[in-house]
Amino acid sequence: LANGVARVPPMGWNSWNSFGCNINETLIRQMADAIVASGMRDLGYQYVVVDDCWFNPNRDSAGNLQGDPTRFPSGMRALGDYLHARGLKFGLYQVPVDRTCAQYFGVYPGATGSQGHEAQDARQFAAWGVDYLKYDWCSPNGTIQDQVATFARMRDALAATGRPIVYSINPNSIHAKTGPQRNWGDVANLWRTTEDITNAWDTGQANGYPMGIQNIVNVTVPLADYAGPGGFNDPDMLEVGRGGMSDTEMRSHFALWAMLAAPLIAGNDVRSMTSATQAILKNQDLIAINQDPLALQARQVSGDSSRRVLAKRLANGDVAVALFNQSGATTTIATSAAAIGKTGSSFTLRDAWTGATTSTTGAVTATVPAHGTAVYRVSGGGTAPPASTGTLVSAASGRC
Ligand code: GLA
Repeated sequence: LANGVARVPPMGWNSWNSFGCNINETLIRQMADAIVASGMRDLGYQYVVVDDCWFNPNRDSAGNLQGDPTRFPSGMRALGDYLHARGLKFGLYQVPVDRTCAQYFGVYPGATGSQGHEAQDARQFAAWGVDYLKYDWCSPNGTIQDQVATFARMRDALAATGRPIVYSINPNSIHAKTGPQRNWGDVANLWRTTEDITNAWDTGQANGYPMGIQNIVNVTVPLADYAGPGGFNDPDMLEVGRGGMSDTEMRSHFALWAMLAAPLIAGNDVRSMTSATQAILKNQDLIAINQDPLALQARQVSGDSSRRVLAKRLANGDVAVALFNQSGATTTIATSAAAIGKTGSSFTLRDAWTGATTSTTGAVTATVPAHGTAVYRVSGGGTAPPASTGTLVSAASGRC
């Protein structure tokens, strides 16, 4: 979407994965402070997104949305001011149709959707200083045409405010999954590719609820053509630091999200991160690959669904390559500089996990543990024309 924002994937934090509806302004402020104190803000984690359950279930007498007065007694504008004063940006969750997901499942009262209130609600968000809107379909009803029309109405309402607001949509909650069937780049900056992520490597879902890391990768890798400056596939928020996976799997998760030009939206409790979690979320080599200004999503250049070689062209002519071992046993994965689009006969490989550099005349090989991902930044030589475009594989139908 050419609205001037998200020219590279947004980075930040979102309340949902760790806190669900247990949110309030004290928690969000503490998280903002921890994002600053941990150094995450300075590495690019800017957007602090308050997910579902921030609402007063009733609009005011003029029909305006209101924050929950118990959870956010200082008001939403004050929260935005707090974040902006710390060099952060403010994100909020909303739905178009009827109920938010938490309301739909009866976790939270009310029905506060923006349908029919788009202009008024967009103006309200802008007045509160909102910089990022997560707009979640969250309805069992509607066709993909309804989704396109409805998501586009909020796109236009946000544009009419004149405030730059990242527009993140989710066409994949509750409703039959539509994301992979459409390139949403004309509608939004970010579009979810699957049902909700959870902190597990594999939930056995093709695109149902909930999705493990490798299940999401399987859906998102074939969508590389859709990504570019201003519009990115969104494989959902990070589960790094939330347990449920081995360190190897956590590292793969982050490396793959970096390669897939995914938004890097942390979902852990930033106030109490282990050093292992910090080492993953603050890996500057991977962040640089993710934030590269060419803003391309890695393409699969060889392998199959158990051993993937993914390559991401970078603005300075380097190519990042990931050797992802999706099988259950340690395996050697090999590719070459030529196969990932480099020309020449002398290259340097920089290991994104260790920072170590090695020289090669072309071979790019690693012994990768089960569920592990080796990532190298390949420099030297020239860069070949872009690899041929990927093939769109539509995801299996979901839980509805
Ligand atoms: C949906 C979304 C989640 C989260 C919840 C909130 O399930 O996909 O990311 O926003 O709604 O209820």
